[in-house]
Amino acid sequence: MADTTTQWIKVAEEPRALSFNAEQIAVVNIQGQSYCIGRYKDQLFGFAYRCPHAAVPLSEGYIDNHGNVVCPLHFYKFSLLNGRNVSGEGYYLKTWPVACRPDGVYLGLPPEQSAKEQC
Ligand code: FES
Repeated sequence: MADTTTQWIKVAEEPRALSFNAEQIAVVNIQGQSYCIGRYKDQLFGFAYRCPHAAVPLSEGYIDNHGNVVCPLHFYKFSLLNGRNVSGEGYYLKTWPVACRPDGVYLGLPPEQSAKEQC
Protein backbone atom coordinates (compact mmCIF):
# COMPACT_ATOMS: atom_id res chain seq x y z
CA MET A 1 0.00 0.00 0.00
CA ALA A 2 1.29 3.45 -0.89
CA ASP A 3 1.89 6.01 1.84
CA THR A 4 3.27 9.54 1.93
CA THR A 5 6.85 8.27 1.71
CA THR A 6 6.27 6.30 -1.47
CA GLN A 7 8.61 7.28 -4.28
CA TRP A 8 6.67 7.25 -7.54
CA ILE A 9 8.96 6.31 -10.40
CA LYS A 10 7.75 6.88 -13.94
CA VAL A 11 8.08 3.67 -15.97
CA ALA A 12 6.19 4.51 -19.19
CA GLU A 13 4.43 7.33 -20.97
CA GLU A 14 1.21 5.30 -21.03
CA PRO A 15 0.10 1.71 -20.33
CA ARG A 16 0.32 0.78 -24.01
CA ALA A 17 4.00 1.71 -23.97
CA LEU A 18 4.74 -1.15 -21.56
CA SER A 19 5.96 -4.29 -23.31
CA PHE A 20 3.52 -6.87 -21.99
CA ASN A 21 4.22 -10.43 -23.03
CA ALA A 22 1.51 -12.91 -23.98
CA GLU A 23 1.01 -13.65 -20.26
CA GLN A 24 0.33 -9.97 -19.50
CA ILE A 25 3.60 -9.37 -17.67
CA ALA A 26 5.98 -6.53 -18.53
CA VAL A 27 9.46 -5.90 -17.14
CA VAL A 28 10.67 -2.40 -16.31
CA ASN A 29 14.10 -1.34 -15.18
CA ILE A 30 14.71 1.27 -12.52
CA GLN A 31 18.26 2.17 -11.57
CA GLY A 32 19.55 -1.12 -12.91
CA GLN A 33 16.94 -3.25 -11.15
CA SER A 34 14.17 -5.16 -12.86
CA TYR A 35 10.57 -5.13 -11.69
CA CYS A 36 7.51 -6.84 -13.10
CA ILE A 37 4.22 -5.18 -13.90
CA GLY A 38 1.27 -7.47 -14.36
CA ARG A 39 -1.99 -6.62 -16.10
CA TYR A 40 -5.12 -8.26 -14.76
CA LYS A 41 -8.66 -7.13 -15.58
CA ASP A 42 -7.34 -3.81 -16.92
CA GLN A 43 -5.50 -3.04 -13.68
CA LEU A 44 -1.73 -2.89 -13.27
CA PHE A 45 0.21 -4.42 -10.37
CA GLY A 46 3.90 -4.14 -9.56
CA PHE A 47 5.76 -7.12 -8.17
CA ALA A 48 9.27 -8.46 -7.73
CA TYR A 49 11.13 -9.67 -10.79
CA ARG A 50 12.37 -12.82 -9.08
CA CYS A 51 10.36 -15.49 -7.30
CA PRO A 52 10.94 -15.48 -3.51
CA HIS A 53 11.36 -19.27 -3.56
CA ALA A 54 14.31 -19.87 -5.88
CA ALA A 55 14.75 -16.56 -7.71
CA VAL A 56 13.39 -17.58 -11.09
CA PRO A 57 12.25 -14.61 -13.20
CA LEU A 58 8.52 -14.29 -12.67
CA SER A 59 8.26 -12.57 -16.04
CA GLU A 60 8.42 -16.11 -17.45
CA GLY A 61 5.38 -17.16 -15.44
CA TYR A 62 1.78 -16.23 -15.99
CA ILE A 63 -1.21 -14.61 -14.33
CA ASP A 64 -4.03 -17.01 -13.55
CA ASN A 65 -7.78 -16.39 -13.69
CA HIS A 66 -7.85 -15.32 -10.03
CA GLY A 67 -5.26 -12.55 -10.28
CA ASN A 68 -2.27 -14.52 -9.02
CA VAL A 69 1.13 -14.61 -10.64
CA VAL A 70 2.25 -18.21 -11.08
CA CYS A 71 5.95 -19.01 -10.99
CA PRO A 72 7.19 -20.92 -14.05
CA LEU A 73 9.41 -23.32 -12.07
CA HIS A 74 7.42 -24.83 -9.20
CA PHE A 75 4.11 -23.10 -9.91
CA TYR A 76 3.75 -21.40 -6.52
CA LYS A 77 1.07 -18.73 -6.74
CA PHE A 78 1.19 -15.19 -5.35
CA SER A 79 -1.61 -12.65 -5.14
CA LEU A 80 -1.01 -9.57 -7.26
CA LEU A 81 -2.92 -7.56 -4.67
CA ASN A 82 -0.71 -8.23 -1.66
CA GLY A 83 1.96 -10.81 -2.49
CA ARG A 84 0.34 -13.53 -0.38
CA ASN A 85 1.49 -17.02 -1.32
CA VAL A 86 -2.00 -18.33 -2.01
CA SER A 87 -0.78 -21.83 -2.89
CA GLY A 88 0.37 -22.15 0.73
CA GLU A 89 4.11 -22.70 0.74
CA GLY A 90 4.79 -19.84 3.13
CA TYR A 91 6.62 -17.37 0.92
CA TYR A 92 5.80 -13.74 0.32
CA LEU A 93 6.18 -11.82 -2.92
CA LYS A 94 7.02 -8.13 -2.76
CA THR A 95 4.36 -6.05 -4.48
CA TRP A 96 4.08 -2.34 -5.19
CA PRO A 97 1.29 -0.07 -6.41
CA VAL A 98 1.12 1.15 -9.98
CA ALA A 99 -0.54 4.48 -10.79
CA CYS A 100 -1.75 5.49 -14.24
CA ARG A 101 -1.72 9.29 -14.41
CA PRO A 102 -2.30 11.67 -17.29
CA ASP A 103 1.47 12.06 -17.72
CA GLY A 104 2.47 8.44 -17.44
CA VAL A 105 2.58 5.15 -15.57
CA TYR A 106 4.30 5.17 -12.17
CA LEU A 107 5.54 2.41 -9.90
CA GLY A 108 5.35 3.27 -6.21
CA LEU A 109 8.41 2.13 -4.28
CA PRO A 110 9.32 2.81 -0.67
CA PRO A 111 12.31 5.18 -0.39
CA GLU A 112 14.73 2.48 0.69
CA GLN A 113 13.61 0.26 -2.20
CA SER A 114 14.08 2.95 -4.80
CA ALA A 115 17.52 3.87 -3.47
CA LYS A 116 19.01 0.41 -2.90
CA GLU A 117 19.55 -2.60 -5.07
CA GLN A 118 16.90 -5.10 -4.08
CA CYS A 119 14.36 -7.33 -5.69
S1 FES B 1 11.26 -20.81 -7.99
FE1 FES B 1 9.27 -19.99 -7.96
S2 FES B 1 8.09 -21.48 -6.98
FE2 FES B 1 10.08 -22.30 -6.92
